[in-house]
Amino acid sequence: MAQLEGRIAIVTGAARGIGQAIAVKLASEGADIALCDVEKDWLTETAGLIAATGRRVECFAVDVSNGAAVQAAVDQIAGKFGKIDILVNNAGITRDTLLIRMSEEDWDKVLQVNLKGAFLFTKAVARPMMKQRAGAIVNVASIIGLIGNAGQCNYAASKAGLIALTKSVAKELAARNIRANAVAPGFIKTKMTEKLTEDIQKKMLEAIPLGRFGLPEDVANVVLFLASDAASYVTGQVLTVCGGMVTA
Ligand SMILES: NC(=O)c1ccc[n+]([C@@H]2O[C@H](COP(=O)([O-])OP(=O)(O)OC[C@H]3O[C@@H](n4cnc5c(N)ncnc54)[C@H](O)[C@@H]3O)[C@@H](O)[C@H]2O)c1
Repeated sequence: MAQLEGRIAIVTGAARGIGQAIAVKLASEGADIALCDVEKDWLTETAGLIAATGRRVECFAVDVSNGAAVQAAVDQIAGKFGKIDILVNNAGITRDTLLIRMSEEDWDKVLQVNLKGAFLFTKAVARPMMKQRAGAIVNVASIIGLIGNAGQCNYAASKAGLIALTKSVAKELAARNIRANAVAPGFIKTKMTEKLTEDIQKKMLEAIPLGRFGLPEDVANVVLFLASDAASYVTGQVLTVCGGMVTA
């Protein structure tokens, strides 16, 4: 039997990249999927890929940093699907620059999407998950949240915060059989990393013991594990998916 048969999953930032791969992977294991993205039109491609797996899919235009929009989306999802079993907080952005050049707006925007967005979605699904006494939350953090990076102090702080949020939620909701874990990807080939100069990409490749950049599917496989019953005794953990770049 498929691992997620009969489960309902929400994936944020699902229009492309890692979020798209996660949504398709969870669907391929039997879950019905609620796709959320600020760019609703972009969701058409992911929705088509999921429909091809035979699973149910619905698309929601939602900016994860807008509390009212998040609550409205979660209410609609619970209404349409009847329950929520899995939440994957994947939506994330970068606004890279050195600390001394970073505007307050660059700081706020990245923290709002990457950290506050996960808080808002987690809070909104907590009630239905508590009622059903089951749930799995997976947050897409980054190795940068573990080790820091020059030019990314806003992003690093947001992902370190996301890891701390994960650990706290895990402790708070464990008694209701709700698990919360994080994945910390390294360098994954997506539109987000396409922006980096060839020089930086070359340097990063040299630092990856497995000798290749990661693919969105590499992250999706680990998210599937953490969302599934195979990880039923795993909570509050951070799993790095980085080709061996960071070991801890
Ligand atoms: N690509 C990497 O190397 C890498 C490494 C570590 C962590 N990550 C994390 O993985 C996640 C996905 O990254 P990606 O590389 O696929 O990025 P991406 O830019 O390709 O996709 C991000 C998606 O999030 C959506 N999004 C952005 N802001 C949003 C908002 N306010 N509300 C709802 N949706 C929003 C975008 O529209 C897009 O579809 C991010 O959290 C990122 O920080 C990526």
